[in-house]
Amino acid sequence: MSSLTTLIASSRHARYCAVLCLSGLAACGNDASDSNAVASHALEVAEPGIIAASPQRDGDPIRGREALLQEAYVECGLPARLFREGQGVLPAGQQVARDGAGRDLPYFLNSTVNDDGVELAVNNCLTCHGAPLFGELVIGLGNEFADFTEDPSIAVERAGLLLRSDEEIAAWERYADRIAAIAPHIQMQTVGSNPANNLTFALIAHRDPITQAWSDTPLLSLPSTEPPPVSVPPWWRMKKKHAMFNLGEGRGDHARLMMSASMMCTDNRKDLAAIDEYAADVRAFITSLEAPEWPFDSDADQAAIGQQLFDQNCSQCHGTYGETVTYPNRLVDIDVVGTDATLMEQALTEGGPWIDWLNRSYYGELSQALPGRGYVAPPLDGIWATGPYLHNGSVPTLLEVLDSGSRPEIWVSVARDANDKAGFDRSRVGWLYKSLDAGQVSELEPGEQKYVYDTRKRGHGNAGHTFGDHLDDSQRLAVIEYLKTL
Ligand code: HEC
Ligand code: HEC
Repeated sequence: MSSLTTLIASSRHARYCAVLCLSGLAACGNDASDSNAVASHALEVAEPGIIAASPQRDGDPIRGREALLQEAYVECGLPARLFREGQGVLPAGQQVARDGAGRDLPYFLNSTVNDDGVELAVNNCLTCHGAPLFGELVIGLGNEFADFTEDPSIAVERAGLLLRSDEEIAAWERYADRIAAIAPHIQMQTVGSNPANNLTFALIAHRDPITQAWSDTPLLSLPSTEPPPVSVPPWWRMKKKHAMFNLGEGRGDHARLMMSASMMCTDNRKDLAAIDEYAADVRAFITSLEAPEWPFDSDADQAAIGQQLFDQNCSQCHGTYGETVTYPNRLVDIDVVGTDATLMEQALTEGGPWIDWLNRSYYGELSQALPGRGYVAPPLDGIWATGPYLHNGSVPTLLEVLDSGSRPEIWVSVARDANDKAGFDRSRVGWLYKSLDAGQVSELEPGEQKYVYDTRKRGHGNAGHTFGDHLDDSQRLAVIEYLKTL
């Protein structure tokens, strides 16, 4: 027993030192400024305009779905026992049809057995790219209610008290160390905002681009401890998109690049090659997904009026739908779209070393990270289900996307998850919300404040996209009636 205690105590110490180092409170073993020299390479910047297609590898969508829900592309996590013991019967929205040992785990965890024989429950891509919508899991829908406002290392530390064997402790320690290293960089200010970009950048900063070996002390500068908020795009767009991500920086082979999301514990090239074996299948599955259909009544006459307005005002950027499907894949200049520039600036300035790392690494052999001065106008299929809107989730409903003057400055969603049909606004389309002023926010219980979206905060701005401002409300509602049919 005492050896277990020592083990836990010493690993705590290692993580504590890492946290001190990251927060600048203690000297790091290694001088990050050396590796920052990489940033002085001139970063290639994409021109706004049409993004051309690049060749993609073929894959098998059925095998891809299986891999997504059964493979251990994220190799570290907590012992599965801890989840099973506490879990009881899963609600319908948490279940997913699959074979294998993970079939009784919630949809966002996969089962894997490590070299020491410990069964682990490891997070899968659906942690962010799946959500129960009105009671049923929708694979590919971004989870806009996930809570990344808490320090993730607290829950992991708590789990550390429930371990039973040396093998469980060793597995926990590996995971806990990684979480401790990235925790300060992935804490969001609002429930629903996603930290994936900073998560990737923080992991990159700790890895050698060529060997993938992990370094406890960062080798590159670390991302901000106030990550810009990102709203998770739905996967069904990928069948049309030539480039991944809001900035369209994901170029070349999408399969290789999307599997970089599993970077937490892949510490050598052999592990990456094993994941790459099924990456093209995962991509094939993702591009086979269809948007969910609008589940409420709609008005076909209004939608027909809306379609005309859409074709005149919106199609040049967002494409056409129905019988003639077109999608221009347009990267729109930031000065034209005018939305919050923080995410873009992060990629173009402090992001230099991380982007350079990606392009020199195993991922860069087939793919390229190439940000430009703007955002991609996304396909609008299934847009009704994906609020709140814009790349940072700053605008709660479609009506406000089309009327920049009516956007709330500080707001809080009434719904607390996407199962809440009564919390869905069928006319403005999006989640119902309450507008607040700064005084009302300060009166909220601390536990409630994390649900407040404050567009005055850095990265949270709701300006721009004024392309519907010249329409009147009845025209906007007609456009929305049309958007419901996409
Ligand atoms: C921690 C949350 C998180 C996890 C886990 C995650 N993603 Fe993502 N993903 C995001 C976010 C956020 C974006 C948008 C980033 C941006 O645009 O800057 C994104 C973007 C994408 C896109 C591009 C979508 C588009 O429209 O451009 C694809 C494809 C994708 N992820 C695939 C995956 C795969 C495959 C996995 C698992 C290996 C995965 N993601 C795991 C959060 C996550
Ligand atoms: C000049 C190009 C352009 C025009 C014209 C345009 N948009 Fe957009 N749209 C964009 C870009 C770029 C974004 C992404 C901005 C961001 O996320 O910061 C966007 C985002 C959106 C979104 C939010 C997508 C999401 O996932 O949150 C909706 C909805 C939308 N546009 C609808 C429309 C409609 C309806 C019209 C016509 C009235 C229109 N747009 C006209 C470029 C355009």
